[in-house]
Amino acid sequence: MEGATPPSEEEVRAALGAVVDPELGASIVDLGMVTTVDVGAGGEVEVGVALTIAGCPLRNQIRDDVTARIGTLAGVTSVHVHTTVMDAARRAAVMDVARRVAAERAPATAVPERARVVAVSSGKGGVGKSSVTANLAVALAGRGLVVGVLDADIWGFSIPRLLGMQGEIEARQSKMVPLERRVGPGLLRVLSMGFLAGEDSAIMWRGLVLNRAVQQFLEDVHWGDLDYLLIDMPPGTGDIQMGLARMLPRTEVLIVTTPPLAAQKVAARAAAMARKGHLRVIGVVENMSGFTCDHGEHYPLFGSGGGSRLATELGVPLAGTVPLHPSLPAGGDAGEPVAAGGGELAPVFAGLAERVATELAPVVPMAGCSARLLARVEEAVRAGS
Ligand SMILES: Nc1ncnc2c1ncn2[C@@H]1O[C@H](COP(=O)(O)OP(=O)(O)OP(=O)(O)O)[C@@H](O)[C@H]1O
Ligand SMILES: [Mg+2]
Repeated sequence: MEGATPPSEEEVRAALGAVVDPELGASIVDLGMVTTVDVGAGGEVEVGVALTIAGCPLRNQIRDDVTARIGTLAGVTSVHVHTTVMDAARRAAVMDVARRVAAERAPATAVPERARVVAVSSGKGGVGKSSVTANLAVALAGRGLVVGVLDADIWGFSIPRLLGMQGEIEARQSKMVPLERRVGPGLLRVLSMGFLAGEDSAIMWRGLVLNRAVQQFLEDVHWGDLDYLLIDMPPGTGDIQMGLARMLPRTEVLIVTTPPLAAQKVAARAAAMARKGHLRVIGVVENMSGFTCDHGEHYPLFGSGGGSRLATELGVPLAGTVPLHPSLPAGGDAGEPVAAGGGELAPVFAGLAERVATELAPVVPMAGCSARLLARVEEAVRAGS
């Protein structure tokens, strides 16, 4: 290439547009990871790349890819790649762009654009995901909202029992119609394997790939207008969470944990998994956080403070703490969620719903919605470039 005129900075940037961050699945230029481009008179090209994390395992791959791409341009005599690590604000902006790119590529689902999608997740079974999902859904509906509940626990569904709902899903124009339950001024629209024509067909479904079942619950359903879609995740997140990340990348995650340190570590893994799929974690709920007996004495049976430690570690708010209380399993067995009654835990879930609805994942008002969304994307792109 000697003797050729060196490329312009724009040409170098255009070539860099083909370098994709393998983890984030978008071009490093679109992601705002390219900080500087310098082209010397003799064709020496220097590129600055800001990585999302220190010790990024993909550092060499990105560097090699950048070098290779620029090396193909006429007039380039040498390529130097300097890597730095971006700060938290920039990383957040990059993740916003990654989410937008993922959203553009995602298949269309029947979940209305306006709905906030919140997956209730944990790394471990039995910590209270389903109980939190059911009661949060009821408390949100109590605020006059329309709340979809998707029971993504295909094998171990518990939502129908917890919400006291039974029946069979009907199809309308070959789409499933969720079962409904009124809660005060609001409405629940619920879909679970438990509603699919009894035990037999549930057993038949077990042969199917789990992801496909969840995909159908997102695509082949008349969800109607929803303010929220809460997703009760199965224990051991893995596949279903990554499937959700692909199919519904705007899913946000609420992590449920119990007070002990061991549970926190597992929950932290669930959060790491969420981040790998670019899902935003909106907060942590500490469940079973101590027991207050009838005499008012408080016993932190499983330790205390685990939820807030995990929230700090993840850099997200502690959305709420739910004490250990016998009314919760009793309400679950009776199909009368405690959040709907006047018992001790009702205010706890009302408080959690308020936090979610006003702060952590506020429902999007119809008017001006797309304008705001665009503004947010533009902001993210600007911050990253
Ligand atoms: N705060 C609480 N106080 C008392 N019991 C609780 C509390 N939270 C959950 N439980 C009980 O713990 C058990 C497990 O709760 P739940 O089924 O909600 O957990 P899960 O995380 O969804 O479990 P899985 O991983 O199996 O889906 C249930 O019997 C439930 O009633
Ligand atoms: Mg469950």
